[in-house]
Amino acid sequence: MNEKQLAGQKAASYVQDGMTVGLGTGSTVYWTILEIARMVKEGMKITGVATSKNTEKLAQEHGIPLASLEDVSSIDLTIDGADELTEDLTLIKGGGGALLREKIIAYHSTHMIVVADSSKYVNKLGTFPLPVEITPFGYAKTVNAIKKLGCDVSLRKENDVLFLTDNGNYIVDCSFSEIDYPSTLHDRLNQLPGVVENGLFIGYAAKAIIGQENTITYVEK
Ligand code: 5RP
Repeated sequence: MNEKQLAGQKAASYVQDGMTVGLGTGSTVYWTILEIARMVKEGMKITGVATSKNTEKLAQEHGIPLASLEDVSSIDLTIDGADELTEDLTLIKGGGGALLREKIIAYHSTHMIVVADSSKYVNKLGTFPLPVEITPFGYAKTVNAIKKLGCDVSLRKENDVLFLTDNGNYIVDCSFSEIDYPSTLHDRLNQLPGVVENGLFIGYAAKAIIGQENTITYVEK
């Protein structure tokens, strides 16, 4: 079993009957979703809230009952992946382009568990370029304003066209090399007009389940 599968499947064991569960996006939480689907087939009653159209499709294909965020009063637990995480459970997310919905759903969740392979667990954030979701309107100006914060920027493309998020926005991948002050950077980015949200998740996750070769490491707050 690979590290993503180990971590992803383990996280599903925290899902209990009757829960409303935020379903993250990516290749690690993929395994969580398949495991939850198996539990649902065996009779567990849960309601999923998807963080992306891809996850919605995956969950539907595997028979997980879904509701929209508007239709649930709260989310008991969200399980999601990360592109980087540190010991204090600060995350970079958005590699899959779903950071805005992921952050909204994480915010409205009582608990968040992160699932990752060992390559994601780092001493300092920043090797992975920080994804920032921006509006198409004025995007070139917004990109320049982001650059002035001291990073190299790259507008994300897919098949040679600008990548569009599920919300109809663009993603800028920002290379800072090392992020010394995640909270300051988070606020400075989100203060820029045209920035919708950035991929720094601070204070959301309470636990990380990390696949490490054939075993699992837990990081908890
Ligand atoms: C999507 C995300 C993903 O959680 C993140 O990219 C990790 O993905 P994977 O589990 O495939 O490595 O933030 O927006």
